[in-house]
Amino acid sequence: MSNILITGGAGFIGSHVVRRMVKNYPNYNIYNLDKLTYAGNLENLKDIENEQNYHFLKADIQNAEEIDQIFKKYHITHVIHLAAESHVDRSISNPIEFVMTNVVGTVNLLNVAKNNWSGDLNNHKFYHVSTDEVYGALGSEGFFTEETSYDPHSPYSASKASSDHFVRAYYDTFGLQVLISNCSNNYGSHHFPEKLIPLCIHNIKNNLPLPIYGDGKYTRDWLFVEDHARAIDVIFHKGNIGETYNIGGFNEWQNIDLVKLLCEIMDDKLGRPEGNSEKLITFVKDRPGHDLRYAIDASKIEKELGWRPSVTFEEGLEKTVDWFLSNEDWLNNVTSGSYKDYYQKQYN
Ligand code: NAD
Ligand code: DAU
Repeated sequence: MSNILITGGAGFIGSHVVRRMVKNYPNYNIYNLDKLTYAGNLENLKDIENEQNYHFLKADIQNAEEIDQIFKKYHITHVIHLAAESHVDRSISNPIEFVMTNVVGTVNLLNVAKNNWSGDLNNHKFYHVSTDEVYGALGSEGFFTEETSYDPHSPYSASKASSDHFVRAYYDTFGLQVLISNCSNNYGSHHFPEKLIPLCIHNIKNNLPLPIYGDGKYTRDWLFVEDHARAIDVIFHKGNIGETYNIGGFNEWQNIDLVKLLCEIMDDKLGRPEGNSEKLITFVKDRPGHDLRYAIDASKIEKELGWRPSVTFEEGLEKTVDWFLSNEDWLNNVTSGSYKDYYQKQYN
């Protein structure tokens, strides 16, 4: 029996990974370990919370002792590690929390895994989920490959780069059986509305300004979150130990064009006159250290593991908008309380 610890399973991507693993692998015990920060929400997993192979554990990866007890009590055999502070803008106002969770928390997990699995390392796996932001920024040409040198610019990407280095160090030094993936920007249901796409959906719905940083020419490579969860499943089961896989959407968009497309879709869905929501676009002060362009070369995972995105951007965006419009309670719950304070500080 595999006892799989998925960290950060109450967050955006983690909840999609947990759902997929619980549904597709009834012979695995899935332990969702999450601190439930502002970004963690058990509502995200309502539909599977009563499944027999699903278990929730509220814990903080910064607390090594607590993690060690969990490993021992539940005989953890594998880790899929997603827990992180994940928002670049928050890392600019509070870098320390990013070091504590993303670096110290990751090293705690690695250490506990190494100590509990020593003597039988080959029957255990530690899969670390990371980001394309570790590679820094591209100009108008080129792509990030698995060989691109690390060059992070924000406290968030620096903390993720550091955690990737520690994962490799535990492979090289201790023989821990590790896998790493670096993925581009995700979008889809349950996305916390501090990030560009859900923030714009929320603001369009409520006729609020759509804040575009700088000139809006910054470019991201967008991937539907369920395709990312499927890539994680494939890498976890078929990836070669010690290797890194880049995951991307083959789908680059400048922010301004993406927001205009979203306005078009929302006008249609809300029965508003064409061009109505675009008027909400407001150019605001740029993000410090803003990376110009990310673009992933995902040919390795395609060639070696047969993975490709399955959802087109138009389909994925429409599904996403439909989900947000029919889950108003979810959106209202997460945009009250601390979200309002965050929004005020970030945009005023
Ligand atoms: P998220 O912010 O939506 O969720 C993070 C989850 O981690 C939350 O449930 C939170 O409660 C939990 N968490 C935070 N600190 C914790 C701690 N100290 N102990 C235990 N749990 C803690 O993040 P996301 O967007 O779902 O990203 C998940 C992972 O994927 C992150 O590692 C991120 O770096 C990576 N990633 C994200 C994207 C993206 O576009 N969102 C792209 C590539 C990689
Ligand atoms: O590339 C992968 C990364 O994608 C993940 O590692 C991060 O966890 C995830 O948050 C995301 O980072 P970004 O900074 O790219 O995502 P965000 O949605 O914050 O911003 C996307 C782009 O939109 C970026 O160029 C900044 C811009 N932006 C963002 C916000 C929130 C705006 O113009 N206005 C905004 O209000």
